Amino acid sequence: MADDTDALLAALWADYVAITPLAARVHALLRARGETVHNDHVALRSFGAPGADVAALAAPFERHGWRPRDRYVFADKHLVARYWDHPDPTRPKVFISELVLADLPARARGLVDELLAQLPTDFAARLDLPWAGRPWHLDHGHYLELLEVSEYAAWVAAFGFRVNHFTVDVGRLRTVPSLAAMNTLLQDAGFALNTAGGVIKGSAAALLEQSSTLAEEVEVDFDDGTFLVPSCYYEFARRYPTPTGELFGGFVPASADRLFESTDVAR
Ligand code: NI
Repeated sequence: MADDTDALLAALWADYVAITPLAARVHALLRARGETVHNDHVALRSFGAPGADVAALAAPFERHGWRPRDRYVFADKHLVARYWDHPDPTRPKVFISELVLADLPARARGLVDELLAQLPTDFAARLDLPWAGRPWHLDHGHYLELLEVSEYAAWVAAFGFRVNHFTVDVGRLRTVPSLAAMNTLLQDAGFALNTAGGVIKGSAAALLEQSSTLAEEVEVDFDDGTFLVPSCYYEFARRYPTPTGELFGGFVPASADRLFESTDVAR
């Protein structure tokens, strides 16, 4: 089962790096300092509809031992989320969010329903659902329409079922003493960071600090051509101990709310 879990994480990583070349550059930067990178969590996005939602994406992880933990609500982005942890603390947590479709305006809801209607039978039962990719046709005009309503909806429409970001556990790096130092290292190497709400989201007092790169643009095939779309970003997290001495294991909604903006289209 352990090897199986390694294989699952390796598949997720391979799928992510394929559309997020900057993640490989971040790893190279850290390896050059003699570091081994450990991931704090991996995050996925979905539509809140049966077979395409948090529960469907969570199933393959639960089969590999991940356990459901806290739920979160992001009211102004119309998202709900939950995270899972693993009995083996060296495994990354899994953070999965879904868009509340009932909150979308009728036109956008209709566009998402058109995508969901294309889901193959039994698609949700695939063991590789978290890296199954985009199972629907989409034209660029509809992508742009969704983008006007919800950056999140447009991202899921364009990329389908795959990792949105991995997150370096900065607390396990030996040569990088703080998240601020990590950010300086990244900026000196030319990486653009998400500054929404400040470069560092959260605080030691909140027990979790996070920062992220901006998503880079990749070419995505639509029915009517190939267009540049912001893909995925790399995130960085530093956790602090709770009063009982254990590292805080949860998430801070106000921080996550701004991190979602790392895939926004530059306007
Ligand atoms: Ni994250």
